[in-house]
Amino acid sequence: MLKGDKIGLRARHEDDIPVLRTELYDDVVIGSRAEGGPWRPITPGAKDPRLFVDDKEQGHVPFSVVELEGGSLVGTATLWGIDNHHRSAHIGLGLLPSARGKGYSTDVVAVLCHYGFVVRGMRRLQIETLADNTAMLRSAERNGFVREGVLRSSAWVLGEFLDEVLLGLLAEEWEPSLKGWAVGRGAVDSGAALG
Ligand SMILES: CC(C)(COP(=O)(O)OP(=O)(O)OC[C@H]1O[C@@H](n2cnc3c(N)ncnc32)[C@H](O)[C@@H]1OP(=O)(O)O)[C@@H](O)C(=O)NCCC(=O)NCCS
Repeated sequence: MLKGDKIGLRARHEDDIPVLRTELYDDVVIGSRAEGGPWRPITPGAKDPRLFVDDKEQGHVPFSVVELEGGSLVGTATLWGIDNHHRSAHIGLGLLPSARGKGYSTDVVAVLCHYGFVVRGMRRLQIETLADNTAMLRSAERNGFVREGVLRSSAWVLGEFLDEVLLGLLAEEWEPSLKGWAVGRGAVDSGAALG
């Protein structure tokens, strides 16, 4: 497990799947805003690639997010679009509605940065999010991500076109101390980030 201050990122367990399906993916509003595509119902028993992990898929690493205290499932986090030539990747996350507003998102972004930069040797991490997703923007910026551009009217979301913001962070700009969390190069040296 990769550990932050309050949350950990671990492998997807089978019993995470019904919870994530019900609380994140079955919800039309959450699904439409976070997925970058049209919401569709998930057929019971279908191996939805957003939920089931294919360990052979090298470019996409999904995690389940858990609270360090108690180990409860609180969401998903993904390093995706991993390009080992350009050494770039994207990050994405979704927290269960009951887990929001607790500061977990900044911690999840911090741990994904640690995984991307330190474990996977990426040079650039990128996030795309809706321009009105204030919590996501703030969590990214608290980890040092810089707004690089606005993709005007790039997302069709529940009846309207919305802008998306593209944020990027380079390895040399990344300051684990920015967030004040216990993940980073120092923690790697001491082994403290790896559970
Ligand atoms: C995006 C998401 C992960 C953020 O998690 P969250 O728990 O809601 O975020 P938080 O409440 O911790 O807020 C993060 C930061 O934004 C700030 N913030 C949140 N809403 C805000 C608002 N309306 N105005 C100003 N600041 C706001 C918080 O104060 C916090 O900043 P701080 O750490 O400096 O105090 C979560 O809302 C989610 O899972 N949404 C659905 C999926 C999604 O949109 N994923 C992102 C797709 S790229």
